[in-house]
Amino acid sequence: MKVLSIVGARPQFIKAASLSRAIRERHTEVLVHTGQHYDRAMSDVFFEEFGIPAPDVNLGIGSGSHGWQTAEMLGPIEDVIQAEKPDWVLVYGDTNTTLAGALAAAKLGVPVAHVEAGLRSFNRTMPEEINRVVVDHLSSLLFCPTSTAVANLAAEGITCGVELVGDVMLDTARFFAEAHSPEGDMGRGVLSEFGVEPGDYFLATVHRAGNSDDPAKLSAIVRAFGSAGKPVVWAVHPRTARNLAAFGLEELVREQGAAIIAVDPVSYGTTVALLRDAAALLTDSGGMQKEAYFLSVPCVTLRDETEWVETVELGWNVLTGADTARIVAAAAAPPRGATHPDVYGDGHAAAKIVASLESHAGARP
Ligand code: UD1
Repeated sequence: MKVLSIVGARPQFIKAASLSRAIRERHTEVLVHTGQHYDRAMSDVFFEEFGIPAPDVNLGIGSGSHGWQTAEMLGPIEDVIQAEKPDWVLVYGDTNTTLAGALAAAKLGVPVAHVEAGLRSFNRTMPEEINRVVVDHLSSLLFCPTSTAVANLAAEGITCGVELVGDVMLDTARFFAEAHSPEGDMGRGVLSEFGVEPGDYFLATVHRAGNSDDPAKLSAIVRAFGSAGKPVVWAVHPRTARNLAAFGLEELVREQGAAIIAVDPVSYGTTVALLRDAAALLTDSGGMQKEAYFLSVPCVTLRDETEWVETVELGWNVLTGADTARIVAAAAAPPRGATHPDVYGDGHAAAKIVASLESHAGARP
């Protein structure tokens, strides 16, 4: 069986880390990197850290508007699919890379398998929501991380090819934890690099268009970080760094003094080390809400809705939007659920996905 996997953005490298390894145990994988993320800290670092094989093809598309970026990817992806003639095109998550990969394959009549299918925020102003809806409706196999995702698909009339396999990010988290002892290279030494003590700081990330493209929301978040009561280690995404400069908000960050420790994007290992000992995570990321849950760390989500509703229902996550007072209040009393069930599967999603691709090989789209 030949699988053509398409990745391009940081969270997809983390998901591919588990699945590429599992596919290559018995099958051929052609790995295509669209180049959506290209900074070393957003891309290469993850390939090295997880030992993901170098991409067979790097399309080098880079940044641009949504339509431009997606369109630039389509033609070259089509060429690779036609040259490689894979049994499956595998796409991950909800980025423009996911959309371009699924669309190019579906138009060529090659079956699409979607990892992290069925997620919905029910907010169509999010570019990711548009990508998810379209990709799910083009896919032949839809690998869902949660039963909520299965129900979301059923509500849209999609029941064929839907499989509940659990979350590949849990596979990656478990693999990484086994490979790196807490005392070793993801140990306490990392915290001292940032000048913080276990349990006495927050970890933060902000990159959603809804927050980082809006000067009022971005400044409300900066003010909240400055008043959170503990230092905030903020790993600043390049789009957010660019917007802080463009909106003249760098001075506001500086005014918060030692309350905000702003750093460049960090590796997966550093993220895990910082997250594990944080008093809470403050984020608008999707994947990191789950990573906090995996590590039993409270999460404050800087959005008004989430795709990962289980984390909220179980009491480990609270939605605050970009509202300074609500963020500060949530940080003062971080949410800790009474129970911690395995709602994201058993950490063997990748093996289940490969088994399913095998058993459906030769399927028509
Ligand atoms: C993308 C995904 C988002 C995902 C996120 C993970 C879409 C619509 N969004 O958002 O779902 O959660 O990746 O990080 O696909 N930039 C750099 N260097 C890079 C990459 C980006 O400087 O290596 C800057 C550029 O200014 C670029 C901006 O970040 O214009 C946005 O990058 P883009 O890939 O378009 O979207 P993300 O915000 O990263």
